[in-house]
Amino acid sequence: MAPVCHRFCLIPFVSFTTLLLVLVNADDIFLEWQVNIDTTIKPVSVDQPVITINGMFPGPLINATTNDIIHVNVFNNMDEPLLITWNGIQQRLNSWQDGVSGTNCQIQPGLNWTYVFTLKDQIGTFSYFPSINFHKAGGAFGPIRVNNRVVIPVPFPKPHGEFDLLVGDWYNESFKVKSHTLTHYIV
Ligand SMILES: *[C@@H]1O[C@H](CO)[C@@H](O)[C@H](O)[C@H]1NC(C)=O
Ligand SMILES: *[C@@H]1O[C@H](CO)[C@@H](O)[C@H](O)[C@H]1NC(C)=O
Ligand SMILES: *[C@@H]1O[C@H](CO)[C@@H](O)[C@H](O)[C@H]1NC(C)=O
Repeated sequence: MAPVCHRFCLIPFVSFTTLLLVLVNADDIFLEWQVNIDTTIKPVSVDQPVITINGMFPGPLINATTNDIIHVNVFNNMDEPLLITWNGIQQRLNSWQDGVSGTNCQIQPGLNWTYVFTLKDQIGTFSYFPSINFHKAGGAFGPIRVNNRVVIPVPFPKPHGEFDLLVGDWYNESFKVKSHTLTHYIV
């Protein structure tokens, strides 16, 4: 449609922008995670400590939508420092939320810290895991789903169900033993 007059063309443009602003509206998701060591869970036949989040192993699903803002208040109830990283989530100008040694202070035992990050323009399945002291051999990992916004169609029919598949190593020895052994090899 050829624009006849600037003033008339401006009106539909402004309404469309307003509509976009409404659709782009993102949610804040507030989570509280209690991280503990549980010695009663036996994922394999060997009895060893497991790191749980809110009593769960693997940890709880973060189920979000593109552009949502995630607030995770992590309480470290373990007897050693903790960091959790959000694998594949792009921390744009926000690297101190990435939960890795060097950009983030470790959450000391008995203390809590709140991660805040935006799932900006991302879509798909991701995961989180503890990034220091070989904790990932003991648990505290779990799935992150970033669903598409309704205005962004996906090129397949809506699935009947969704399952998060976490694949990793499980060691015969405790993560504490592994951590101490491997420290000798890590520069
Ligand atoms: C995750 O969020 C999506 C989008 O809001 C929703 O359709 C789905 O039911 C949720 N899944 C779970 C397990 O909460
Ligand atoms: C620790 O948790 C308390 C209670 O939920 C909260 O008010 C506070 O902001 C948290 N501290 C940090 C550093 O996230
Ligand atoms: C695994 O751990 C158990 C219990 O500590 C021990 O008896 C067994 O020898 C270990 N197996 C291997 C292959 O290291």
